[in-house]
Amino acid sequence: MSPLIILDGVTVSRGGRRVLDSANLRLEAGERLALVGPNGAGKTTLLRTLIGLEKAEAGTITAFGAERRTERDFRPVRARAGFLFQDADDQLFCPTAIDDVAFGPLNLGLSAKAAAEKARAVLERLHLSHLAHRITHHLSGGEKRLVALAGVLAMDPEVLLLDEPTNALDDVHYGRLNEILANLPVAMIIVSHDRRFLHRLSSRVVALQGGRLHPAAFHSHPHTHDHLHIHLEGGEGDHRH
Ligand SMILES: Nc1ncnc2c1ncn2[C@@H]1O[C@H](COP(=O)(O)OP(=O)(O)OP(=O)(O)O)[C@@H](O)[C@H]1O
Ligand SMILES: [Mg+2]
Repeated sequence: MSPLIILDGVTVSRGGRRVLDSANLRLEAGERLALVGPNGAGKTTLLRTLIGLEKAEAGTITAFGAERRTERDFRPVRARAGFLFQDADDQLFCPTAIDDVAFGPLNLGLSAKAAAEKARAVLERLHLSHLAHRITHHLSGGEKRLVALAGVLAMDPEVLLLDEPTNALDDVHYGRLNEILANLPVAMIIVSHDRRFLHRLSSRVVALQGGRLHPAAFHSHPHTHDHLHIHLEGGEGDHRH
C-alpha cells in the first residue's frame, strides 16, 4: 500500500522565519507516529501544513494518493484527516457540546437526526454523555479537550493528527484516551511532550529539529524514583498509580 501522507522537501515559514526547511515525512497506513521536538520546533506548524492550514513555499504534499496544493485540494483532506488542535478553544465553537460534536458529521452530509445520533454515540463511547447539553465555553479545560476529541472521532477519520492530546487530562481521562487510541485502527501522528504516552502508543518516533525530521528512538533505563500522590487531608485519598 502507498503511504497515506508524504511530505517531500517541504518548506514553511512563519513570521518571516523558516520553520520547516525541506522536511520529509511518510506516514504509512496503520502507523502510529510520534512527533517530538522542543517548544517552537514547528510540530504544530507541520500538522497544520498537512491539512493545508499553512502554505508550503517549496516541496510537495501528497495525501490519500494525490498531490495537494490548492485550498480546493485540501478540502477533502480535512474531511478525512481528523485534527485535534493543541488548544481546544480554537476548535470548539458551537453553543453546546453535542452541537459541536454533531457539526462534523452534519458537514459530511448526514441528516440532522443522524448527525445528532452519531454525536450521542461518540459521547457515550468516551463516557461523556453527561456533558452533551453543557455550554461549550463553560466547560473546564479537560472537558473541552475531550469534547473536541469526540468531535474529531465523530467524523470517522482515516488519519488522526493529534496535537498534545493529553494536555489538561486527569488520570481517568488520560487512561481512557490511551485506551481509545490504542484500539483505533487508523494511522495517527501524535505530537506530545508526554514520553510515557508516546511510548505506549506509537510504533515509530521522529524528532523535529532544525526544520527537518530525524528518526528517533525511545531509550529507557532503570531508574529509582518516588511516586508522588495527593491525598485529601484526614480522608480517603486518591491512590492511583
Ligand atoms: N501565527 C504565528 N505567527 C508567527 N509565527 C508563528 C505563529 N505561530 C507559530 N509561529 C512560530 O513558528 C514556530 C513554530 O511554532 P509551532 O507552534 O509550530 O511550534 P511547536 O513545535 O508546536 O511548539 P510547542 O511545543 O510549544 O507547541 C515558532 O517559532 C513560533 O513562534
Ligand atoms: Mg505546538
